[in-house]
Formats: sequence, structure tokens, C-alpha cells
Amino acid sequence: EEIEKGGYDHFMLKEIYEQPRAIQDSYRGRLLADQGLIKMAGVDDNLEKFMNANRIIIVACGTSWHAGLVAEYIFEDLARIPVEVEYASEFRYRNPVITDKDVVIAISQSGETADTLAAIKLAKEKGAFVFGVCNVVGSTISRETDAGAYTHAGPEIGVASTKAFTTQITVLTLIALKLAKEKGVFSQSKYHEFLTELENIPSKVEKALLSNDLIEKVAAVYKDATNCLYLGRGYNFPVALEGALKLKEISYIHAEGYPAAEMKHGPIALIDEQMPVFVIATKRGHYEKVVSNIQEIKSRKGKIIAIVTEGDETVKELADHVIEVPETFESLTPLLTTIPLQLLSYHIALMRGCNVDQPRNLAKSVTVE
Ligand code: G6P
Repeated sequence: EEIEKGGYDHFMLKEIYEQPRAIQDSYRGRLLADQGLIKMAGVDDNLEKFMNANRIIIVACGTSWHAGLVAEYIFEDLARIPVEVEYASEFRYRNPVITDKDVVIAISQSGETADTLAAIKLAKEKGAFVFGVCNVVGSTISRETDAGAYTHAGPEIGVASTKAFTTQITVLTLIALKLAKEKGVFSQSKYHEFLTELENIPSKVEKALLSNDLIEKVAAVYKDATNCLYLGRGYNFPVALEGALKLKEISYIHAEGYPAAEMKHGPIALIDEQMPVFVIATKRGHYEKVVSNIQEIKSRKGKIIAIVTEGDETVKELADHVIEVPETFESLTPLLTTIPLQLLSYHIALMRGCNVDQPRNLAKSVTVE
């Protein structure tokens, strides 16, 4: 096992650090920037289905569901295709309206999650085209779907999903970009800019990982918290959910992710000097709005830990701690902003003496309903 951990103390840490490579592997051979092409057999062979889809329905559980939420922003924003994201367990018991004009995308690291599998079967029965995004090659979901794309993240052992999440987002971004181009929503030059920037992401993740020592210090300050709030807007709202899930899963601290603007409809009542609030406040997007959310937290004496774009001075003045990530296109920010939140949960869990790789009550793959 020590050999498998490759010199890291835990699988989770190893897998966090593998992300630059894993992301690269997830687009290798698919993203051909010099030719201005995205080649994905599962999509290419079924292009008509995607192009004629009335909507895309994404089904998944846990962290994969969060990747689905990020994909909702990506597909709608870039490719202008309506998307619904469903918890597989809710979808299947709701008598959902599905037709043969729908494309269903099932996202699953393990490819074995029982609820996701059942949702796929239901969608197929109703005539939808079902596309799988799985990590484990040959898994049940990869076999049960009509077509698919593997994430190629390599084995993920830590129960808390890390590299599976970022590679799922990468693969879904490739699909969205391809459809945006095919539909003519994207000009050739915009498309090129995106392909090039996607290729920059692994080195930017590498850079984000350099904050590890700082993050460890921040973790030491908040390790005894009993509640935490995670806020983000737009593309980074799902990142806030995922940040909170990571903390819950491995440190057993109660954490809630919320859309930043929705804070005033409830969670703001919880904010006092005891409450750490992790805010994703990267540039562009809804930056100014998030800054005003930060001011609201500050005036209620909440502790603010902000994930910001490199060189940000405004939030630094307001927050108790800032953690920087490199600048990128707004739609690609989740691939960077997720990194510090993963590291933060890791360090907090470790400091609390928790079993980081095998948290209590959780399983890597949930094959029961
Ligand atoms: C379990 C795991 C999570 C995972 C979820 C969905 O709860 O502990 O890490 O996100 O199942 O798993 P899947 O393999 O379908 O992505």
C-alpha cells in the first residue's frame, strides 16, 4: 500500500496532486488544438443525437452530481442547450418526462452506483439516448450506456472524490465545446482560444497546488469549527457545494454550500464570529456581487476565507485569509477553485485525527439503493 501511495501520506493527497496529469490524460488524444479539433468517438458517432437534442438531462450522485451542475452552466452558457441536473435517486422515482428527443448523460466515477444505473435503465426504456461519463473502464454503467467517454483519471482510491471530479468537468467541457462549435454558437477564433486555454489548465492547477503550505496554516485556524459555510455564484456555486461536501465527508464538520446571493434568505442568520465562511470570489463573472456578499459577512463578524484570482487586492482588504488561483476563463474556473478546497478539507481532517482515505459510514462505490 505504501508503494501505491507513491510517497504521499494518503491516497487522497496523492490523487489531489495527480490532477494536473489526470486532467491532461482526460483530454489527451481528444483535444487537438493545433488542428482546431475535438475528437471524441462516443460523441462523433452520435453527433445527430446531440445536435437534435431538445435538452440534456444529467443524472448522477454525490460529487459526480456536482460535476453535473458545473456541466449545466457549461452546456447552457457555451453550447446553448437546455440542461437539467438530477439526483439519480430522485429522478427514477419521480415518473420523469423523458422522450427520444432527450439526451441523458450519466456521470459516475465508479460506474457502479446503483441509483445512477437504475436511472439509466429508466431513461433507456423511455427511448432516450444515454451517454456515460465514467472513470472505471468496463464498469457496469459504461457497458449499460449507449455510448460514452471515459475520464481516464486513473484509479481513485480515496473515498472522497477529487481527481474524478476535475476530469469529469474536463470531459464534459470538451463535449460542450464541440457542440458549441458544431452548432455555430462559437466562432472559430473563440473556439481556438478555449482549446488553448484548456491546455493551460494542468499547469494552472500545478500553480494552485503551490498554496498547500498556506492552506495548511488556514486549516490549523479553523480545524475546531463546528459549522462552516461555503458560498459561490455562477460556475462556482457547484464548487461551493463540492467544497462543503468534501469537508463533511472527511472531517465530520457540518458544512453547507449555498449560492452566495441566496445567503440573505437564510444562512446569514447563522453568521457570527464563530462561523468560518469560505467564499469563491474569482474575477469576472459576478465578482462585484460576491464582494458585496463578503461585506455582508464581514459586517456580521463572520470569518472570511476567500478563494481569489491571483493579484486580487480588493478582497484581500476584507477577508481574513485569501488563497489565490491563477486567472482563467470563467467557465474553466471550477477546475482551479476546487483545488484549494480539496486541500483544505484534507488538512482539517488530518488535524482532527480522522481517517482521510476511509471516512466512517461512507463507501467508495454505493451499489445498494
Ligand atoms: C459515493 C462516493 C462519492 C461519490 C458518489 C457517487 O458516495 O463516496 O465519492 O461521489 O458515491 O459515485 P460515482 O462512482 O457514481 O461517481
